[in-house]
Order: sequence, then C-alpha cells, then structure tokens
Amino acid sequence: MEKFRWGVLATGWIADQLAAAINSQPDAVCLAVGSRSQDSADAFGEKWGIPRRYPTYEALAADPDVDVIYIATPHNLHYENMKLCLNAGKHVLCEKPLTVNAAQAQECMELAREKGLFLMEAMWMKFIPAIRQMMKWLGNGRIGTVQLVQANFAFNIPFNPHSRLYDPALAGGALLDMGIYPATLVHLVLGKPDRILSAAHLGETGVDELNTAIWQYQSGAQAVLLSTQRLERPCEAFITGSQGYIKLHHMFWHAQTLTVQQVGGKPEVIQLPYEGNGYGYQVREVHDCLRAGKLESAVVPHVDTLEIMTLLDEMRGQWGLKYPEEQAI
Ligand SMILES: NC(=O)c1ccc[n+]([C@@H]2O[C@H](COP(=O)([O-])OP(=O)(O)OC[C@H]3O[C@@H](n4cnc5c(N)ncnc54)[C@H](OP(=O)(O)O)[C@@H]3O)[C@@H](O)[C@H]2O)c1
Repeated sequence: MEKFRWGVLATGWIADQLAAAINSQPDAVCLAVGSRSQDSADAFGEKWGIPRRYPTYEALAADPDVDVIYIATPHNLHYENMKLCLNAGKHVLCEKPLTVNAAQAQECMELAREKGLFLMEAMWMKFIPAIRQMMKWLGNGRIGTVQLVQANFAFNIPFNPHSRLYDPALAGGALLDMGIYPATLVHLVLGKPDRILSAAHLGETGVDELNTAIWQYQSGAQAVLLSTQRLERPCEAFITGSQGYIKLHHMFWHAQTLTVQQVGGKPEVIQLPYEGNGYGYQVREVHDCLRAGKLESAVVPHVDTLEIMTLLDEMRGQWGLKYPEEQAI
C-alpha cells in the first residue's frame, strides 16, 4: 500500500495528538519531525517512532521525501510556517486558526493554489461522528428551521503572561484558540451572519480573556457565542429549531453524546464515540483529497476558513484588539 509520508512541524501538545493519529492510519507514516531544537526533535521522534529528526523547521521543509507537513506551532507562526512549507513544495495540514487574520489566510490559500498544493485548516470538529449526525438531522428537518444556536467554550486557564494563551506576541486570547469552535459551529449551521455585535474583556496582557457575540441573520435567526479562558462552565452547544432542539454535550467540538428533542416529544440521548483520539478523521480526509488530486477539502473548504477568519477579524475589530504584527496596519 502506498503510504503518505508526513512531517510534523513543532513538538507541543497537539503535535503529540496528531502524531498518534497519523501513526494509527495504515496508509501513513510519520517520516520526519522538525523542532526549534534538536533535543525536542529527538525526544518527539523517539516517542513516536519518527526516524528523521530536524533541529529547524527549514530542514524539515527541505526533506525531499516528505509529502505533507502538519503545522502545530502557536497561531501567529502558522502564516510563516505555511509559506515555508508551501514554497518547499509540501502539502499542508495546519492547526486552527489557519492564521491570525483573513488577509494572511487568503495569501496562504493563493500560494497553495499557485503551487498546486493541498492546504487545509485542521478543523477536526467537522469530521467527528456527532457533528456529522447533527448535520444529518438538520438536513432531514428533524428540528425544523434553525432559529437559534448557542455555543460556549469556557475554561479557567491559570494566568501566566508568557504562556501561549495570555501572550499577545503568540496571538493569545480566547477567541482564536477557543472561540473559533463556536464560530465554526455556528457558521456550519447558519452560514455567514448579516450583522455581528461583540464585546470582550481584555486582560492585563491585552488579550481577550472573555468574549461574547451575537450573530444576527436576516432570516430572523440568531447565534450567541461565548469563549473565555478565565471561567469554567459546561461547554455545550444547543441548536434550536421550530420543531425542537439538538444538544451537543460538554466539549461540543468533540462531543460523543447528543440529545435531540422534538417539540412535545421526549429527549433522545445518543452516544456516538469517535475513533481513537478523534484526530484521525482529518488525517484520512487529507489522504482522500491527495489521492483524488484535490487541492482543498469539501468538508473544510478554503471559502469557509476564510469567511470564519473574516468574522473573527470583525469581532476583534469591534473590541480594538490587534496582534503585534498587525499594529502597523
Ligand atoms: N485541534 C485541537 O484540538 C488543538 C488543541 C490544542 C491546540 N491547537 C492548536 O495548535 C497550535 C499549538 O497549540 P499547542 O497547544 O500544541 O501549543 P504548545 O503545546 O505550546 O506547542 C507549540 C509548539 O510550537 C513550537 N513553537 C515555536 N515557536 C514557539 C514559541 N515562540 N513559543 C512556544 N512554542 C513555539 C514549539 O515546538 P518546538 O519547540 O518543537 O519548535 C511548541 O512545542 C495552536 O495554534 C492551537 O490553536 C489545536
């Protein structure tokens, strides 16, 4: 069987999850890893059985035997990392958010298209069975016309001004790290809103520690989105229609339990476990697209990624939050 040869760029928390997911696919091999240090590359390579271990991202991108690179650096680095990999002729799966703003995302998509390379945001939520089931129910009218979506992503992450989530230089803040999930879910169900009202509390490092938004639609539908890195509460999502509602249970972006209730009926609770750690579906999608010669995924198309980035830009614009690389703009 032909195996896709993966390179992993960075060795942090999510890189571990993806290395496990890639290794679990029969048609994939983790061939190489690139890190800012040889020690990290070696430790990661040892842990996941990766034979080629590079002390720079440039060396990884230059490996002629790597087909596709998975990028797992902090958000603000995705833009330069993607350009490095695409310019080296590699297909790319890049962590969410694809970039810190829509302009950067568009540039990377254009570069991928120009080079004839595949590029996808690692929006794994869209592939898990619970989300697929929700879309099936919505498609067959199980809850009627959707009029309200509510989605919360709320964790209390200890304050550390130098950590990824609190450091503006690493594009910290709840919106890009967490809020992208409520935004992607609402966009999946209702599409692009006609109007956004958003507010945020910017903490002492200047990043959004708590943000809320209402997305309004001309149809009369509304969505209420919340993300915070300072408060903990159940991270559920409710999709409510004229004939009932669907609830995606705690940690809705990788829910394994759903409830559906039709008006006047009894709640039906369904368990839909995902395979492995849940990240393998998106790896398979990359393989399927590459085999079919596609440059983008129909499940996570560029147009959706770009539209969602534009909506996040609009929310940040309403709060006046710019990341350091945007200050001169
Ligand atoms: N899909 C998901 O479920 C999920 C979950 C968590 C995070 N993410 C996304 O994945 C990305 C990474 O998140 P993470 O939680 O894995 O972060 P992390 O644990 O902090 O790892 C980030 C890695 O990036 C590299 N890096 C390069 N420059 C860095 C810098 N200046 N500061 C810190 N690290 C730097 C480091 O690897 P080397 O030292 O090897 O270069 C580091 O280990 C983020 O964009 C995040 O949104 C996705």
